[in-house]
Amino acid sequence: MGNIVLEKVHKCFGDVEVIPSVDLDIKDGEFVVFVGPSGCGKSTLLRLIAGLEDLTGGKIIIDGVDVSDSTPAKRELAMVFQSYALYPHMTVRKNIAFPLKMAGMPQDEIDKKVMAAAESLNLTDYLERTPGLLSGGQRQRVAIGRAIVRSPSAFLFDEPLSNLDAALRVNMRIEITDLHKELKTTMIYVTHDQVEAMTMADRIVVLQAGDVEQFGTPLDLYNKPVNRFVAGFIGSPKMNFVKGKDADEFDAHEIGFRPEHMSVSTTKGRWKGVVSVAEHLGADTFLHVKTDEVGTLVTRSDGEINVNYGDTVYVSPNTDKIYRFGADGLAL
Ligand SMILES: Nc1ncnc2c1ncn2[C@@H]1O[C@H](COP(=O)(O)OP(=O)(O)OP(=O)(O)O)[C@@H](O)[C@H]1O
Ligand SMILES: [Mg+2]
Repeated sequence: MGNIVLEKVHKCFGDVEVIPSVDLDIKDGEFVVFVGPSGCGKSTLLRLIAGLEDLTGGKIIIDGVDVSDSTPAKRELAMVFQSYALYPHMTVRKNIAFPLKMAGMPQDEIDKKVMAAAESLNLTDYLERTPGLLSGGQRQRVAIGRAIVRSPSAFLFDEPLSNLDAALRVNMRIEITDLHKELKTTMIYVTHDQVEAMTMADRIVVLQAGDVEQFGTPLDLYNKPVNRFVAGFIGSPKMNFVKGKDADEFDAHEIGFRPEHMSVSTTKGRWKGVVSVAEHLGADTFLHVKTDEVGTLVTRSDGEINVNYGDTVYVSPNTDKIYRFGADGLAL
């Protein structure tokens, strides 16, 4: 079981308030991603759940038990960090077995657990190697293996892939998602990469300055962001925002439209501008269009379009897909 409830969780470091008050209910078996800009409190929140930091106020309840004052060991959670501290002189097998050995588990049981974890993580061929002879992705899998063998009630990941190169990140992202499907154990995963958040999560917690801005499924956040911050944070490239008379027309203080919800024409459209950046990716074309009226707009078109740096174009938002925001930043 791994139902994790946060009630009015509050954290200060000295005089500095980092988490004002967070309420969350993470269901057993759910894959929840904490996402937000650097310094917003993602790691702090995860460390509070793990018991590596003391609460200033509020409660943490795991499977109905108040663990606010319990040691990390009592909480039966497993944490995987960005820097996987493996023992360099031990083989993969010994690294994975280490927490079980420390707990005094009989050797035959340890062997079984290590084999099962190695199989889930495609590490069976590497069990007798030392970490120095592994790739970054393989080392991170060993660190995850060491967490799996403990059969925790939840896994807590703090940016586990940020040391890996782009291609490996994509592979590991898929492997962790598959592992979650196989183990069906609650996972809380911290990242500042919103693509990782969108592709991995059942539900995403968007944090800003220690506050939960929104907690919802990836598509809830994309389709119905509750405010301007979430609208601007989720989606790549980011949403375009426009104020003034264009927003007045939609009875809003500010309007937003996503790059993929815009059309580009060389003959007519709402705003005229000059292309300052043209990114031809084959599958998509991204244009940065500098307009006099509303500043620079970013567009995303399917496939290849024959528009280049310096060209004059007209861009128009798809009016069915416009997001409206009030002066307080809340979605209308
Ligand atoms: N031990 C500490 N003492 C004082 N301030 C701290 C401490 N740990 C974190 N902070 C502060 O708390 C805030 C939140 O930090 P945290 O590490 O949780 O952010 P984060 O969202 O994980 O950021 P990043 O994406 O950069 O890892 C930051 O302003 C940070 O400076
Ligand atoms: Mg962090």
